[in-house]
Amino acid sequence: MKNHPDASKHDSSEPPLRPHVYDGIQEFDNSMPNWWLWTFYGAIIFSVIYWFSYYDSEMMESDSAKMVREMSRIEEARLASVGELNNETLWAMSRNAGFVSSGMLVYQENCASCHGANREGGIGLALNDGDWKYGGSPMEIFDIVANGSPDRTAGMQAWERQLGPQRISQVVAYILSYMEP
Ligand code: HEC
Repeated sequence: MKNHPDASKHDSSEPPLRPHVYDGIQEFDNSMPNWWLWTFYGAIIFSVIYWFSYYDSEMMESDSAKMVREMSRIEEARLASVGELNNETLWAMSRNAGFVSSGMLVYQENCASCHGANREGGIGLALNDGDWKYGGSPMEIFDIVANGSPDRTAGMQAWERQLGPQRISQVVAYILSYMEP
């Protein structure tokens, strides 16, 4: 039962017809066109390259790393906008990567010359020994940085005017990041 219109005058230059018929439709036994094959092979090659760069190399950031970074950025923005500073918000800032890395820059630029590159002290007191002359709560540390040492002869100036509250909270977050609440 051949109901392909051309089935009767099938000549040898045409590809052979496949034997099945579905809904009165027959198929030529064509090979896939080259453009199709190369798209297909290309997709396979691309998937291998993509797989390696995504999962096995540092070239691309994974989704979870992206999400952690994004969450940290959102948290940073939220913390930066909190109106009232207190021990709790300063501790929260000290657990935020954005705050801590900004604070590290502030520290290197303004504080390391007296307190040492690793907070080990020098002209200024050590900030890494857990020993606080003026109290080690976040707000006490914030206060001494902002307002300077109560002992005016000691040589720790007030940083409020030079740095502003935002950068002071960053540098305090950096110092706190080495401590446990
Ligand atoms: C010119 C040197 C100098 C610089 C710069 C400096 N400090 Fe100090 N800092 C001191 C000295 C000296 C003291 C001790 C003051 C005292 O004994 O009254 C001190 C004390 C402190 C304390 C109190 C430590 C405690 O044990 O209670 C903190 C916190 C502190 N500095 C943080 C900072 C931060 C943050 C910066 C950068 C924004 C900074 N300091 C920059 C000299 C410096």
